[in-house]
Order: sequence, then structure tokens, then C-alpha cells
Amino acid sequence: MTLNISFSEETQLFHLTNGDISYIIEIVHNTYLAHRYWGKALRDYGKHNQVPMYKKTFAASPYANRPEFSLEFLPMEFPQSYQGDFKNPAIRVTRNMTIDQIRLKYHSHKIINGLPRIPELPQARESSEDLARTLIISMIDDIAKVKVDLYYSIFENSNAIIRSSKITNHGSAILSVEQLASASIDCYYQGQNVTTMHGSHQKEFQLDSHKIHHGQFKTGTSRGASGPQHVPFIALSENNSETSGEVHALTLIYSGNHTELVERDQYNQIRLQIGLNSDHFSWTLEKNQSFYSPQAVLVYSSIGFNGMSQIFHDFATNHIVPPHFRNGTAPILINSWEMSYFDVNEQKMDSLVNKACELGFEAVILDDGWFLGRNNSKTSLGDWLIDKRKFPNDLHHIINKAHLLGLKFGIWFEPEMVSPDSQLLNKHPDWIMKSKWYEPLLGRNQYVLDLAQIEVQDFLISTLSNFIHNYKIDYIKWDMNRHITEPFSQINTLQHPKAYSHQYMLGLYKVINQLTSKFPNVLFENCSSGGGRFDFGMLYYFPQTWASDNTDGLDRQEIQYGASYLFHPYQMTGHVSVTPNHQTQRQTPLTTRQNLASSTNMGYELDILDLETCDTILVKEHIDQYKHDRKLISSSNFYRLSSPFNSNLTAWLFESKNKSEYILTVFRNRFHVNEHHHIIKIPYLNPDADYIFEKNSAVISGTELIYSGIHLQFEKKDWDSIILHFSKT
Ligand code: GLA
Repeated sequence: MTLNISFSEETQLFHLTNGDISYIIEIVHNTYLAHRYWGKALRDYGKHNQVPMYKKTFAASPYANRPEFSLEFLPMEFPQSYQGDFKNPAIRVTRNMTIDQIRLKYHSHKIINGLPRIPELPQARESSEDLARTLIISMIDDIAKVKVDLYYSIFENSNAIIRSSKITNHGSAILSVEQLASASIDCYYQGQNVTTMHGSHQKEFQLDSHKIHHGQFKTGTSRGASGPQHVPFIALSENNSETSGEVHALTLIYSGNHTELVERDQYNQIRLQIGLNSDHFSWTLEKNQSFYSPQAVLVYSSIGFNGMSQIFHDFATNHIVPPHFRNGTAPILINSWEMSYFDVNEQKMDSLVNKACELGFEAVILDDGWFLGRNNSKTSLGDWLIDKRKFPNDLHHIINKAHLLGLKFGIWFEPEMVSPDSQLLNKHPDWIMKSKWYEPLLGRNQYVLDLAQIEVQDFLISTLSNFIHNYKIDYIKWDMNRHITEPFSQINTLQHPKAYSHQYMLGLYKVINQLTSKFPNVLFENCSSGGGRFDFGMLYYFPQTWASDNTDGLDRQEIQYGASYLFHPYQMTGHVSVTPNHQTQRQTPLTTRQNLASSTNMGYELDILDLETCDTILVKEHIDQYKHDRKLISSSNFYRLSSPFNSNLTAWLFESKNKSEYILTVFRNRFHVNEHHHIIKIPYLNPDADYIFEKNSAVISGTELIYSGIHLQFEKKDWDSIILHFSKT
């Protein structure tokens, strides 16, 4: 069976399949859209799993002669309120500010080749290697004159499905869209767990998993950025295993406010939803206007969380990241932040360029501190001009020198922000977000620019374009270091005030879309005080993200492990920093910090101008080794083997796509005198193959590595780590 979307007039079933997975929807009574199945591919579906309908007290029916039929029991594809389904709706609209009832009926459908176009938003891209088909189901409410289109795309080679929704106002009443879920799925409760991710600055991507209780469990954010407090991710799983059991997981291709919800009702039916955060959203539609939800990515795995991650990783590589970065590798860089903080200057950068070249680096990044009067975090954001007191000869000759030495040159910007003490704010006080009546709050001593204003968008596009062009910039680190406390524009917009957060996102996407299209060869790195806005929306424009400001040899293991649920490690950047670590004061060996950074898109931010001789040798060797390994790492299948969240060993494996080359990385964190035996099993290998280990030429059978495992000999010290290269014989 290959990629197919079918509809049967007789059974009224839509069946989306690619031979690996199936997604099945039924049109019931020519009216309702029922969710029937999402999981492993079915050859055919005879409706044998359907919920029986009984006449029940408290259940309401649309039919006088069929009291047993109630939406209380029908698993819905796009549930609405006031129809006897008392769970969370997928849509809420208000007509003329009063009536918020809507009754959508199935109207028509079409099946198209390829993917739909969603205006103004990042979205799944077509890929020549992976064909896609899309089902569009239209539902109409003839009384409210509202049409909703539901989009479902399925791919030939990926077990991800894309869903999104579009609403159109065909009536003359003003329509306020208060909620429009990207995906809503009703399913059968079988004791699944729910997994989400929470976090904070310097502690991103922490996993949270528990039983599904009766009632609603909701995560999400109203901070104007997708994380790090709650990541747009929710999964139902049979167990918490990395290698077995069903997982149904959702994420959003969006970087702003979002909500994830799971609800378990009185009859143990479950509803799973993801979409814009409706508590902080409202969008006004006049006659014939439409609104599109962001796309949701739905992933089904029958082999646990590792299987789920493989699907997310491959999907992001093939359908999200800018295609010209898909198969490439990034330059190994030295970043000035932790070595100099705001104290950057010409002489230091000049020495850094020389030293970087000597050690084998491929790029030098000038982080914060380079622009007009920026000596601390209190000033100058918005005044994107070189500070001549720090760089009396401007930046040109340093950049030219870097280029002559074969190094790329990158620079830090925080374009969405402005400091109170800045020329920009003096000139344009109405460019910041605030309400008419109150003073705005400061976050990291800065205000947020009102990106919904076209003048602000144009300012950012022209300022960054001119800068990149004039200075021949190869890399931009795009930072965003505070959240949006007052989502209000000082300039009147035609939209409802609650539309603002989404308008901000549309403004941001417009700016970064124009810049990345204009400068396709410039590498943009996404950052929000680390991984604070690390999502598939940003990944659509920026192929890599600074995963965390925490570079500690222990904490980073958890952050990278958690982030790898959604993102391939090469989509994260990780730097080797100094010890004691600036965030935790923990001392870890250089090789362990190197091994951890080598498990990502690797760089450095320790002071390489002040290295001891022995460390200079280690740094050189490490860079050489990483140059050798990074093709494999960047294009690998990634497997988590042992979790830092519940053990003293963290282990993961990079596998070449042709399953012949491997890099096994293991961290043994605390040294315990009574723990001297450390076994790692690698369940993902081929039992029929043999594998040869580079270090000692040992040949070990697949079955032994899978079932019996290998002992790893660590040293008598805390924070030790080992990297082993092996290949299939
Ligand atoms: C954020 C980033 C850091 C660094 C600083 C500069 O915290 O995450 O890497 O760029 O800003 O101010």
C-alpha cells in the first residue's frame, strides 16, 4: 500500500494511509465528523471499534426518536459547544458580540496532491523525496454563515500528519473567533500517560509525565513566546518506554502563545488538543474574511518515545528547516559571550580571530556588547551601530581579516527589543508595546518593539539588511530575552486587542521571512536566553537554536536529552565553556564538556586566549575529531539509551543513515565507590550483524550488544564520560 487518501460513499469513511499509519474519519448522518482511528496502518476498517450508544441520564440527543444517540459519546474531529458534547470545544466564535453558538455540518471535501498554503505562517514544506496528499473537509453552519475547512496532510515516507483549520465568515454579522484549535482528537482511554515539557531559563526541556486524571489538564503559555516554561508538545503513551508501546504526540509549527490540553470525561473518553492559547486570543472577521490556525504536527509511534523522536527529527529535516540547510553542516565557532560578556573590543576580537584560526575554528562570533554604549544590559538595544570606543577602526578590517583567514564572521542582535536608554526609543516612543493608560514593565531592562506596526517591521528589515550587506556578515545570532507582559499596540489596529499576540507573531515571521529570503546563505541562529523560543515555527526560518544559557556539564545533559524528544541534536547548538561553570559553579573535566558539546552542533565560548598548553592540545584534537564526526552527527538517526532524569548514566547513540557507522556517548555523573559496573545495551542494532569498535578493534555481535550489553570502564572521579566509535563489519 502506498500513499492514499480514500473516501467511500458507502461507508462514509475517509481513510488516510501511507502503508505505515492510518487516520480514519467518518461522516455520521451526513452531519458530524467522527474520529475513528489514528495508529498503525489498517488494511481496511469495518467500524468494529465503535462506541456503543446507550440512552443515558444527562445525555442529550439531537433526535427525538433516537434518545441513545448523543454527542456525549461520539468521538469528534472538531467539537463545538452546545450540542451535548460537554468537553472542551475546538472552536468558539461570537456573532455580533452576543451569540456564541455554532453548529457546523459536513458540507463537502476535496483531496489534493501536495500540501496546502497557509498564508503568513511557517508551515510544512513540500519535499521532492517525500510526496504528500491533503484532505480538505469543509463544514458549514447555514445559520451563522460560517465555513470551517479542516486540513489533513499525509506523507509517503513520514509517519507525521499535519492538521490545521481555517474559518471563513460568509455572513454580514461581525464574527469574533475566540478559539480555533489546530488539532482536536477524541480517543479511547486505555490507562495512557500524558507527557509534556516544562522548564525555565537555564533549565529548559524538563520532562513531565503522569496518569491522565478525570477533568482537564492544560499547559501552554501567554508570554508571547513558545517557551521555556511550557513547550508546545503533548503526548499520550501506553508506557514511558523509549523502545516500546504506542505514542500519540502533537506539536505546533508556531512560536507564540499556545495551549495543550487533555481531558478525560465521565465515560473515560479522552480528548487531546493543541492550538493557539484561546484565553489570550480573539480575531475579528468581516464578511468573506478568513483566519488560519497554525499547523499541528501529529506523530504516531508504535515503538515508544525514541520512535516518536525519529519521526519528529526526520520530519523537521525534510519538511521544516530551510531546504538549503537540510544536508549541510555548520561552521565550528568561537563565541565571545562567556569569555568577555559586554567587555568586547577591537584588540580582543583581533586576537580571537588569530587564535581561532590557529586552533582550527571556522567562525568567530561577536556576541552582545558591540554597539553604541552597550556596556551592560541596561542600554542601547535598538541602536545597531558599531561602538567606536570599543572598535575605533570599525569592524571592517576584523571581518576582512577573518575572511582572509578562511573564517566566517557572525554577530549578535536582539532585533525585537529596545532599551529605555536608546536613541531609537527617544525618536519613536510609540514603537514599543504598551497600553494607553499604564507604564510598561521592564524585562531584562528592556521593552518590546511593536512588531505589528509596518514601520517597525520595515525598520528591522532595512537595519539588518544594510548591516549584513555592509559588513559581509555570515551568521546572525537572533536573540529574544524577555517575554511580552503587555500585548498592546499604541497605534490603533482594526483588530480586537486580544488579537495582538498573534499579530506580533505574524509581524515577526514577516521580518524573518524577508531577511532569510534576501540572505539565504547567512546562517541565522535562534536564541531566546537559550531555548526559550525553540519550536518548529522558528526552525522553519532558523536551522539551529542555542539550546540553553546553561553550559554546565551535568545540567546540559538533561536539557539536550529533553529537547531531543522534538529536535535532532544537530538542530541544537552546544558550546564548551569554562569551569567552574558560570551558571552552576560546578567543575567538570574539559573532555566531558567537549563530549557533551560534540553531541550537538558544536562550538566554544571559553576564553581560548587564555588556555594552558595541555588544554590547547585538547581543544585542537577535539576540533579535529568533531570535523571528522560531524557529517555523521548532523545527518544521523539519534537514539536515547539512558536518561539523566532517572539515572547516574546518560547515554545516546548517533547512527549513520545507512546504519553502518556509530558514535556512542556515555556520561557517568557521580562517582560512587560501590558502583563499578556500568552496562549499556544498544537495542537499536541489527541482531544479525557484527560491529567493530575503533578503540580496541573488538568485534562484538549485534545480539550481544542488544541483549547482554557492554561494560564501560570509567575513572574514579565525578563527571566522567566516554565516546566510542564503532562500525558494522
Ligand atoms: C542571552 C543569550 C546569551 C547571550 C546574551 C547576551 O542570554 O542566551 O547567549 O547572547 O543574551 O546578552
